[in-house]
Amino acid sequence: MKDNLQRLKQDIIKKLSEVKDSQSLRELEIQYLGRKGEFTMVLRQLSDLSIEQRKNIGSAANVLKLELAEKFRQVAETLESEKKNDFVDLTLPGVGINRGHLHPLTIIQNELEDIFSSLGFMILDGPELESDYFNFEALNITKLHPARDMQDTFYINQKNKAGEYDLVLRTHTSPVQIRAMQKYGAPLRCVVPGRCFRSEATDVRHEHTFYQLEGLMIDKDISWADMKGVLEVIAQKLYGPETKIRMRPKFYPFVEPGNNGEVTCFLCKGAGCRLCKQTGWLEIVGSGMVHPNVLSAGGVDPKIYQGFAFGFGLTRLAMLKYNISDIRLLNGGDLRFIEQF
Ligand code: FA5
Repeated sequence: MKDNLQRLKQDIIKKLSEVKDSQSLRELEIQYLGRKGEFTMVLRQLSDLSIEQRKNIGSAANVLKLELAEKFRQVAETLESEKKNDFVDLTLPGVGINRGHLHPLTIIQNELEDIFSSLGFMILDGPELESDYFNFEALNITKLHPARDMQDTFYINQKNKAGEYDLVLRTHTSPVQIRAMQKYGAPLRCVVPGRCFRSEATDVRHEHTFYQLEGLMIDKDISWADMKGVLEVIAQKLYGPETKIRMRPKFYPFVEPGNNGEVTCFLCKGAGCRLCKQTGWLEIVGSGMVHPNVLSAGGVDPKIYQGFAFGFGLTRLAMLKYNISDIRLLNGGDLRFIEQF
């Protein structure tokens, strides 16, 4: 009989550990400890035993019964507290979901892409790891040309078959001019936003990683006046209809003539202020008429087609738009800064 009681105890404890709700706990209690329960039935057989055995087994059985009753009580208590924890107060205010937002550089990029699309320009992409050929040579910057010094370059530590380091992190988006001409031919209208890299000693205006937006338009009878017209429309869309543009000569080997495009300062409207360093003008774009050598490298006949190209410093446009004083904040990953946009 003692063995029977022990076996029942093990059964009950195992089943108690599997109980998930108070209904099944109640059913288990009835099954074993109820008036007709298995445990109760075994206890009833005590009367068939001798007085000596009854004393011995009877007191052990009572201890066991109390022990089991306590276990049922504990399980009931646990189920009750779990039920309390499950309670959902639907009247409480909801937990706000933090929504992300666009980075200021992306906002400027989207804005420019919209303006250029409306003028019929395609939006293109190009590789950030470029060959020396596309980044320099095809753009009329030959191996020993001093213009290479204008762009401090990250060369990749891997030689080609001729033993030259010919892979670079692109220093500008201009190599996509060549790729676009080779792929689409002329006439052509495209812009290329993208990331560029230069081995700069960084300061408030220079980063090793920054963004440009390249533009290229090729057709028959394209003149310098067309270029100025397009850049003026862009400047007016960006900074308002009164904005004027002025072009000053600047040397870039891949254009001839080359220019620096400056717009009237949107802060002082040309009167002179801290932002424009009292000049009334802000420098925003490098540009020029595409050099015949560059057209040829792109597979376009310079005797039939002409074109203009330009390169905005996207990072600079974002700094101007949001009055950001240090370029390094843009990619610094400081949430206190980036959450202001
Ligand atoms: C170029 O990169 C030419 N490819 C632009 C061009 C395209 C000219 C087509 C003519 C025709 P530049 O080195 O001046 O030019 O750079 C263009 C712009 O990129 C600069 O005005 C500046 O706004 C931005 N830029 C250049 N270097 C950095 C840098 N280290 N950090 C942040 N912005 C930079």
